[in-house]
Amino acid sequence: PPVGSMLNLDDFERMAKEILSEQGWAYYSSAGDDCVTLRANRTSFSRVWFRPRVLRGASGKPGIDTSTTLLENSARIESSLPIYISPAAMAKLGHPEGEVNLTKAARSAGIVQGVSANASVSLDEIVAARETREQPLIYQLYINKDRRASEEILRKVEQDGFKAVMLTVDAPVMGKRELDMRAKGEIVSSPASPDSGGSASTSTSGRGVAGAISGYIDPTISWADIDWYRRHCKLPLILKGVQSVEDVQLAVQHGIEAVILSNHGGRSLDYSPPPLDVLISLRQHAPHLFNQIEVWLDGGVRRGTDVIKALCLGASAVGLGRPFLYAQSGFGQPGAERAVEIMRDEIERCMRFLGVGSLSELGPELVEVLPRVFT
Ligand code: FNR
Repeated sequence: PPVGSMLNLDDFERMAKEILSEQGWAYYSSAGDDCVTLRANRTSFSRVWFRPRVLRGASGKPGIDTSTTLLENSARIESSLPIYISPAAMAKLGHPEGEVNLTKAARSAGIVQGVSANASVSLDEIVAARETREQPLIYQLYINKDRRASEEILRKVEQDGFKAVMLTVDAPVMGKRELDMRAKGEIVSSPASPDSGGSASTSTSGRGVAGAISGYIDPTISWADIDWYRRHCKLPLILKGVQSVEDVQLAVQHGIEAVILSNHGGRSLDYSPPPLDVLISLRQHAPHLFNQIEVWLDGGVRRGTDVIKALCLGASAVGLGRPFLYAQSGFGQPGAERAVEIMRDEIERCMRFLGVGSLSELGPELVEVLPRVFT
């Protein structure tokens, strides 16, 4: 079907399920244990309802301004939308150009791409696909048991003009993703992954794709490693995978530039809380923290309304993982571009319905939060 017939992000998921290999679908869609957190990431958004305002004129304004500045106190990244591409590994399982599709689509859409440590193309290929050095890329780091390998990568991403680093902290071990472990498929390759010594091709045999590319990750990292990071890299640091109010507080104390409330798309610990629930707790119990650190969020975001709900509650940016992998599967760059177009339309529509003309007008008064749901 033509890419224009995709009307929402779930259309891409259905399409991807049809065309992906057994291994590709299993790796992309799988999540920890019984996938309770995976489902809750999605259903948590039904806790938040809008309180639209009418007769505010915004619905008739020709231009709704969806642009924003990320890492406002450090990198100052301009983005045309408050969404970004979450770093997710192995885009080549869906399309031969892999993550390069996302780099080009991010450029044409004016949004940020998070580049996975386990991307299926090399960093050099990503960098070569940028149109200019100014195009905002953020590198996602897994700290290597061999610290020198990580130090080398940090030097490289700094030289290559990356704008910041996301350090993923919610995957000290791999979640037990049984669909991935059962899927048949032999060889995976992650030239970006330090595991592979630069050209990793490795058999999955029962470990799943995730198990095959993650052996180098240090499960013992701690807050002390933040000092190690600062010694080796000048780029702003974003902690990805924060799941409690207490850890946001600690991130502030450690001078971290931003946190991403995330549970790795449900792929790590099952029964870890949906990021939207953590955001709501933060707003209820420690709203002052929003002035001290930028709060981003990912997990289960599939609609423009999801994005606007998170922004109303204090998030600065919202990431999408699987939707971009699915959208580039089969369609390549135009698929990823279409996914952004769909989100742009839905975000603008939602803003017009709420009666706001720019993101800075969003706030908690525009939503009502219901008690936690469990279905
Ligand atoms: C991921 N994610 C991820 N995160 C990360 O820090 N490094 C990585 O290499 C990967 N790889 C990865 C692969 C796949 C197939 C998926 C689906 C996810 C997690 C990702 O950045 C993000 O947190 C979630 O995908 C967000 O949830 P949604 O948008 O997929 O619901």
